[in-house]
Amino acid sequence: MAVLINKVLIEIPPKFAGRSPVNRESYEKYLHKEWSGAEGLAEDVRYYGKWMRDEAWKRIGHLYPKVQVPKELGGGMATVIAWIWARTIKCPNPACGASMPLVHSFALSTKKGTEVWLEPVVDFAVRRVSFEVRRGKGVPKGTVNRTGAHCIVCGTSVPFEYVREEGLAGRMGAQMMAIVAEGKGGRVYVVPQQEHEVAAAGARTQDTPETDLPEKALGFRVQLYGMKKHKDLFTSRQLVALTTFSNLVSEVRERVLQESDGNQLYSDAVATYLAIAVSKSTDYWSNLCIWRSDPKNLGIGHVFARQAIQMVWDYAEANPFSESSGNWLNNVQWLTLVIERAVSTIGGTAQQIDAAVLTNGFSRSLISTDPPYYDNIGYADLSDFFYVWLRRSLSGIYPDLFGTVLVPKVQELVATPYRFDGSKERARRFFEDGLSRTFTRMRDSGCADYPQTVYYAFKQSEAESDDNNNIGGAVFSASTGWETMLEGLLRSNFSITGTWPMRSEMSNRPVASGTNALASSIVLVCRPRSVDAPLTSRRDFLNALKRELPKALKDLQRGNVAPVDLAQASIGPGMAVFSRYSKVLESDGTAMRVRTALQLINQMLDEVLAEQEGEYDADTRRAVAWFEQFGMDEGPYGVAETLSKAKNTALGTLVEAGILRAQGGKVRLLSRGEFSSDWNPVTAKRLTVWEVTQRLIRALQEQGDTGEAAILDHVGAYGEVARDLAYRLYTMCERKKWADEALAYNSLVVEWFDINDAVEQLRRTTAEQAPLFS
Ligand SMILES: C[S@@+](CC[C@H](N)C(=O)[O-])C[C@H]1O[C@@H](n2cnc3c(N)ncnc32)[C@H](O)[C@@H]1O
Repeated sequence: MAVLINKVLIEIPPKFAGRSPVNRESYEKYLHKEWSGAEGLAEDVRYYGKWMRDEAWKRIGHLYPKVQVPKELGGGMATVIAWIWARTIKCPNPACGASMPLVHSFALSTKKGTEVWLEPVVDFAVRRVSFEVRRGKGVPKGTVNRTGAHCIVCGTSVPFEYVREEGLAGRMGAQMMAIVAEGKGGRVYVVPQQEHEVAAAGARTQDTPETDLPEKALGFRVQLYGMKKHKDLFTSRQLVALTTFSNLVSEVRERVLQESDGNQLYSDAVATYLAIAVSKSTDYWSNLCIWRSDPKNLGIGHVFARQAIQMVWDYAEANPFSESSGNWLNNVQWLTLVIERAVSTIGGTAQQIDAAVLTNGFSRSLISTDPPYYDNIGYADLSDFFYVWLRRSLSGIYPDLFGTVLVPKVQELVATPYRFDGSKERARRFFEDGLSRTFTRMRDSGCADYPQTVYYAFKQSEAESDDNNNIGGAVFSASTGWETMLEGLLRSNFSITGTWPMRSEMSNRPVASGTNALASSIVLVCRPRSVDAPLTSRRDFLNALKRELPKALKDLQRGNVAPVDLAQASIGPGMAVFSRYSKVLESDGTAMRVRTALQLINQMLDEVLAEQEGEYDADTRRAVAWFEQFGMDEGPYGVAETLSKAKNTALGTLVEAGILRAQGGKVRLLSRGEFSSDWNPVTAKRLTVWEVTQRLIRALQEQGDTGEAAILDHVGAYGEVARDLAYRLYTMCERKKWADEALAYNSLVVEWFDINDAVEQLRRTTAEQAPLFS
C-alpha cells in the first residue's frame, strides 16, 4: 500500500509532465491550454472518473431510488445522501423476542436551534420498533452504551456477550431508521419508505473479495461480532457498487489505451488513480461509517477516522451518486487535487524493500524515514481493507506489489503479540531488534555530508484517551514509543543533533479538533556518533544541560515553536547533549537510561522558563506567582501579601495596574473579559507584560489578528516579552491541566507571525488615517 501511494505521488506524475489529456472532450475544450505539471493527467482522471459514474449509473442506478419528500419539507423527489441503519438482534427475553435496534446515537443534526433526531416508536401489539423524525430538543439516549444494550420494547438489559453470540451465530440483522436526502432548501430527513427497503434488499453481489479478516489484530474488534471476512464490512449494495466501479477501472484502462494510441504506460497510470479512488470510496461506503450529526462535519464519517476498524452500531450508507459527502465524484476530486499538485519536475521511484535488510544500492544515501512505533498501528492488517479492492483492479499492472492475496506481514516491524503466540515479550524483542538493525543499516549506508532524519509521530491513542483534554508535555513523557526510538538510535551509535516539530496531518482529525493537539510529527536529526565519544557523569551532564538549554530554548521560542510543542522540541537540544557522550554514568556506575535523561530535560525546561521571569516587570512576576497557585480563582489576601513581599512589589500596585481585584479579604486576578475597554497602551499609567499578554489574547479572541496588531504596534518591546510569558503560562496550565487557558496562550504564539504581518499592514494604512491609539 505504502509503495503504491509513493508511486502515485512521486513516480507517475513526472512521467507525464506537460502532457495534454487524451480524452477528446477535454482536448477540444482546452485546445490552446498549456498543460503544466501533471494537470493533463489529472484532467483525464477527472474525465474518466465521470465516465465511470455515468456507466455505473446505467448499470446499478436502479438500486438508488430518489425519495419522496413530505409536503411540509418542500415536497417533490430528492436524491438520497444516505440511508441510516441500525444493526438488530433478537431480544433474549423469552416473553419479548422483539427485533432490538442497536443504536449508539439517535441524533441526525445537532445544529443549535434546528436539531433533528429520531424517536423510536414501539408498536406493542406486534413488538416492533419504528422511527419518527423529530425536531428541536429532546434527543433520547441510544440503546447501546459502554456496558451493553437494552431492548426498547421490554426494557431488558442485554450484555455484550449476548450481542456477540448473536453476531457470531450470524443472527445480527439491520433495520433502516431514516433517509437523508438533498431537499430543495438543504438536507431533509425522512422516515424509511418501502421502495427503499426493497431496493437495498435487491442488491445481488457476485465476484467480491473472499479474504478472511485476521483472527485477532491490533485495532480490530469487529470479528467478535461475527464479521469474519473483508466483505462483511460492507452492505450488499455497497459490495455491488464497489465491484461495479472496480470493474469499470479495467474498462477505463482499455478505453485510455485506445484513445492514447496504445500508450500502455499512460492507460496504466489513469487506471491506477481511479483504482485508488475506488479504494478511497471503500472508506466511505462501508457499514462501519457513522452519520456525523455535528454541524461542522455533518455527513458520512469515514471508517479510518482512527487507525482502527471499530464496531459501529448505527451506520450510514452513502449514495455514490449523490452530490453530498462520500459520493464517487467527490472521492475522485480529492485525488485530482493531489495529482495537479504533485511534483512533476523531478522523477522519483518507489520500491518495496524490507528496511531491516537494506542492502546494496543504498550506500551513501540521504535517508529520511518515518518508522513504525511499537504496537501503535497495525498497518499491514489494516491496509488489507484497501488492498483487497486495489488488488482486484491493479494486480495486472503491478504483479509484484499485488502478488500475495493479502498484504505481506512477516517482515512488518510491529510489536504485536498476536504474531507471537500472544507473547508480549517476544513481540517487543522482535520490534526492538528490527528497529536497531534498521538504524544500524541506516548509519552504515548514510552519506556523511548530511544528517539523517527520523520522524516520530505522536501516539494518538494516548492522547485520545485523555478526555480530549490532553496537553503536550505531560503525555509525551510517559510515552514508551519515544524512549524506544531514542534508545534505538543511540544503540546504533547515532547522536541526535536536533528535533523539530512538524505539522503533517490535517487539523480536523478527531484528536486535533477543539483540543490542544500536538504537532503531529517530530523530526529527529541524527548524525553518526564519533567512535571516541567520551563518558561523563550525571553531574557534568546536568551542568552541560544548564549551560546549553537556555539559549536553545530561546532559539525555539524565537522560531515560534508552539508552546504546546515546546516540551517535545526541547528534547532535541537536550538529547544533543546526552547523545554526545558514549555514556552518562549514574553515581552507582550504571549508564543513565534515556527515560531518566528525558525527565531531567523536562525539569530543566521548567527551570529555564522560570528563569526568564527576570525579563518581566515586578507586577507581572507577582501576577505569575499568583496565577501559578490560584489560576483565575479567588485566594486569601494574606497569601497575596506574602507573595508580593517575596516578589518585591506592593499589592496595591497590582490593583492600580488594573490586573487584580482585592475585596473582602479575598484577592483574584481579573479575567480578560473584565479588563476595561477604554485602555490605551500609550497613556496607561502602569503598563505590565501581564496585561499586555492578556489584552493581546482578548483582542485575538474578539477581533482576530488586526485587533492584536493594533495593540502590538504600540507596546514596543513588551510584545516580545509577552510572547515569552505565553510560553511560561502555557507550561503552567499544562501541568495543572487547565486546558482552555493553555489553549489561549498557545494560540497567541501560533498566531504570532500573522499578527506581525497585520502590524505591518496596519502601519501602512494608518500612515494615512488617524491611529487607533495616540
Ligand atoms: C509510521 S508509518 C509511515 C507512514 C508514512 N509516513 C505515511 O505517511 O504513509 C511506518 C511504515 O513503515 C512500514 N514498515 C513496517 N515494517 C517495515 C519494514 N520491515 N520495512 C519497510 N517498511 C516497514 C509500515 O508498513 C508503515 O507503512
